[in-house]
Amino acid sequence: MSVIADNCPDIEVTLVDIDHKKIAAWNDKNLSNLPIFEPGLKEVVSRNRNKNLFFSTDIENSIKNADMVFISVNTPTKNKGFGAGYASDLKWVESCARQVSKYSKGHTIIVEKSTVPVKTAELIEEILVSNKKVKSVNKKTFSVLSSPEFLAEGTAIKDLENPDRVLIGGSDKFAINQLKDIYLRWIPEEKILLTNIWSSELSKLIANAFLAQRVSSINSISALCESTGADIKEVVKAIGSDKRIGNKFLSPGPGFGGSCFKKDILNLVYLCRFYKLDTVAEYWEQVMLINNWQKQRISSLVVEKLYGTVSNKKILMLGFSFKSNTNDTRESPAIGIAKDLIENGAELLLNDPKVTKNQIEKEIGIRELEIDKISFGKWEFVNDIYEASTGADAVILITDWDKYENLNWEKISNLLRKPSWIFDTRGIITDDLLQKIDSNFWQVGYPMTNS
Ligand code: UDX
Repeated sequence: MSVIADNCPDIEVTLVDIDHKKIAAWNDKNLSNLPIFEPGLKEVVSRNRNKNLFFSTDIENSIKNADMVFISVNTPTKNKGFGAGYASDLKWVESCARQVSKYSKGHTIIVEKSTVPVKTAELIEEILVSNKKVKSVNKKTFSVLSSPEFLAEGTAIKDLENPDRVLIGGSDKFAINQLKDIYLRWIPEEKILLTNIWSSELSKLIANAFLAQRVSSINSISALCESTGADIKEVVKAIGSDKRIGNKFLSPGPGFGGSCFKKDILNLVYLCRFYKLDTVAEYWEQVMLINNWQKQRISSLVVEKLYGTVSNKKILMLGFSFKSNTNDTRESPAIGIAKDLIENGAELLLNDPKVTKNQIEKEIGIRELEIDKISFGKWEFVNDIYEASTGADAVILITDWDKYENLNWEKISNLLRKPSWIFDTRGIITDDLLQKIDSNFWQVGYPMTNS
């Protein structure tokens, strides 16, 4: 919404939330206190805030004054009831629709921005028009459009300013043109794709499923490379040079994280089962199975390399966010790997340039876990990477932050207690550096010659 405000000075954009603390943070004079860390966001907010970009908790009046309402709430996977573990929980979408139905005036265009299961627009429409009494008195009318968001965290502002495409799904020509006119201010017309509403909703799930599938595919091959002596970087170059395959999104890693991939795949699986397409459901479910397998393979490999036990061993873990340039930890592979090592008795030293100690505490919970009478699994947050390396048994690199690529790996290796191990789950340590390192080394997809 900030990017819309930035490109359309004549349009007034108001963001509302029921969470007063969040809105206060968005209005904070100190731009470093914005609730989300995202490169470029601070600048966009500071250029437009209180000019044509407002943050408010006055939901009622904001809806009353709006010609267009974007529903951008979260749709987490249900953990209870029918479809638990797979289906999306639409309670926030539903509650937004009820509020729009109650407070809106005249004609209102509702745009689904949240990633939703196919046919959610139908549900929104039903809620909107069911309030017939209010409707006839106030002459309310509605149009529902789907315009899913394809931005990736860490590059969100760039993705929004220069998207590969935007989708507008719907059938009401007036509403479609109103939304198209907004996007046209900075997006070339050929990148604005008009579809029916169900294609638009489904395309978002499928785009994420295809991306996640690529990551699982390359991760599965990383294990095969390690076993056969092939080098994943060479394989990626060879297959990525084929234009039909393309070279993007082929970096092996500790498994994908983030708020979208897992949720959307589970949702897709649920949808396939609902339509009795069980074989299709099973096919997509494998993407999740490989992802979980990759995370577990890494924690058990660390234990195995450290002579079968990590009990009372000091391990420095670099990175906790699910990828670089974000402080988001949702579904981060770091969570499971850290828990596994703590449960095996390791003393984990955790570092991340943007994730706070409190956030890590929320994700892992345990600070100290009794393994037997003499050993305890525990973790602490560390700021100084070199100090934390001193006397540690191993370093595991989890997140691909530039900062970690530029560390003095030779120095770190020298500070470790020998025999030491460096585990690079992102493949960022180069061959040149490797020659200088006096530690055992494991890299995802790298032929296991040093083990
Ligand atoms: C994703 C989609 O890219 C975006 O279009 C959608 O709107 C939301 O979901 P995001 O979750 O922010 O965006 O991050 P993305 O860059 O897609 O990465 C997801 C995960 O896959 C991360 O954990 C990342 O580290 C991992 N990944 C990505 C790899 O392991 N290898 C790759 O080559 C690419």
